[in-house]
Amino acid sequence: MIKILCLGDVVSPDGLSFLESGGTLRKLREELGADLVIANGENSADVNGISTTSAKRLYDCGVDIITGGNHTWKWQEVYGMLDDAEYMIRPANYPDEAPGIGYILTEAKGYPVLVMNVVGRVFMEPVEAPEKAIEKILSSMQGKYSVSICDVHAEATSEKLFIGRYFDGRLSAVFGTHTHVQTADETVFPGGTGYITDVGMCGSENGIIGVKTENIIQKFTTKIPVRFEKAHGNCYINGILFEIDESSGKCTGVKRIRRNNKQNG
Ligand SMILES: [Fe+2]
Ligand SMILES: [Fe+2]
Repeated sequence: MIKILCLGDVVSPDGLSFLESGGTLRKLREELGADLVIANGENSADVNGISTTSAKRLYDCGVDIITGGNHTWKWQEVYGMLDDAEYMIRPANYPDEAPGIGYILTEAKGYPVLVMNVVGRVFMEPVEAPEKAIEKILSSMQGKYSVSICDVHAEATSEKLFIGRYFDGRLSAVFGTHTHVQTADETVFPGGTGYITDVGMCGSENGIIGVKTENIIQKFTTKIPVRFEKAHGNCYINGILFEIDESSGKCTGVKRIRRNNKQNG
């Protein structure tokens, strides 16, 4: 049995510090017996984007593989790390001309694990169809992995469910990111694919999806550009733990994770 912990968008240095402080993530990893930890890092630098520093901090505090999304591209300093693809990937369905690569072959308990990342297209950039990008990766990596998992970074619930159901039985697990709010629909589909529409975020829940409440109120009420500042305090870790049978590649258990630190808020 392989246990994979997937964490939602780590937002701002507050979210990062929460994972780091007192070895919070390392302790959670140990408590859950997670063999592999995947985290979406697209918001780990300031409010948006990922920097070389925030990527390294994520890795150092216990994240094995970092996935991305629409905000991955904000800071150019990280493009070299994306091209190196040592432990950080970006959505596979962005153009080939974009830096980085959309999948990585890692291992857990000595078994090869294929980790993928795609973005949705509903209310997002008109990139290649996510299902086509996943198909291409699966066929190019055929026979090279025991377990496969995909971070579907998307706005629409229906689009994430579509990917989960479409690949039921062919991916070990599909987890959604991007909305920063955890959904309660975790399940294992009939074909054996573990699924959740959104794992939620790792960061302050005092604002609105990681941003100060007043900024978002101003944005919605005026419709003029607003500089977003990060929310502080009341940090949560939101994620999901998939249990996967390494011989069949099927998901056998799924557990939602939601933890906070009251001292933090
Ligand atoms: Fe995000
Ligand atoms: Fe996003």
